[in-house]
Amino acid sequence: MRSSDYHHPTRYLSQRESNNFGILKRERKTSFRGAIPAEAGIHFFKNLSGFPLEFTPYLIRGGKDTIQRQMNNISLTIDGKKIKAKEGDKILWVALKNGIYIPNLCAIQEKVQPSASCRLCFVEVEGENEPVVACTEPVREGMVINIRGKNALRLARTSAELLIASHPLDCGHCLKNRSCELQKIAKHLGIKLKTKRFRRLERNLPADKSSALFIYDPNKCVLCGKCVWVCQEKLGIGAIGFTRRGFKRMVSTFQDKPIGESTCGQCIECVKVCPVGSLAFKDKNFPSQKVAK
Ligand code: SF4
Ligand code: SF4
Ligand code: FES
Repeated sequence: MRSSDYHHPTRYLSQRESNNFGILKRERKTSFRGAIPAEAGIHFFKNLSGFPLEFTPYLIRGGKDTIQRQMNNISLTIDGKKIKAKEGDKILWVALKNGIYIPNLCAIQEKVQPSASCRLCFVEVEGENEPVVACTEPVREGMVINIRGKNALRLARTSAELLIASHPLDCGHCLKNRSCELQKIAKHLGIKLKTKRFRRLERNLPADKSSALFIYDPNKCVLCGKCVWVCQEKLGIGAIGFTRRGFKRMVSTFQDKPIGESTCGQCIECVKVCPVGSLAFKDKNFPSQKVAK
């Protein structure tokens, strides 16, 4: 784990305190248009959660100084290419914006706190002993990043092979064939979809075809969480969420109802963000079948 991850404020927060953090952010947005005086923020947060004062500087990220720092342009090198970026942007988004592909499944640019759960976006940074996760690591002035370092590739390949070991391999019949992020990642990392390194573990769950527009096949889900984030956090609908634990973890509806009988409003936003064939339009020619970032 990177030291910057460890010191991130939300690592110290309980659920209640995380909610408070959300309230604080909303409050900043609505009442202060993105910036609050530090004292007001500390006072506000302490009143809500009793959170130790020494951590509050991490939490109070508004104010002119911070905004000024985030706006700074910096130079760095990714894969030998000189790049200009905004200080504090995450390596993954800087690389993708500049046409350099780093494998990723769980990253959503709008998400304030990346889940960093797929562990596919490892890169190496000159001067660091271990590979770092590109979706959480901010860029710094003069950084030299190698996306094809031996150790980073070894870690990313292991993550991808573990995913593939529990993924049904019927690409020929899949609605996302040729627009699937997992196919792209396997190709990029030079691994076969029929990898034999790990024992195959398939779930054999029934596909949910109850929606008029899309199919949900839990067997193909890579648990990236994008659909859940969109439905719950972005749209505030909450028709789907994660249930169960361990190998049985899956995306489901309240009381495991078929999607067509749930509170789902068929807005299809979840289908648009699913990187694999787990949520796919019944009509292959549906204009939004292409995976959105
Ligand atoms: S279609 Fe819309 S409402 Fe239904 S599960 Fe997906 S995001 Fe939620
Ligand atoms: S259904 Fe798709 S978007 Fe949702 S968690 Fe699974 S792979 Fe990710
Ligand atoms: S994209 Fe970085 S861990 Fe998933």
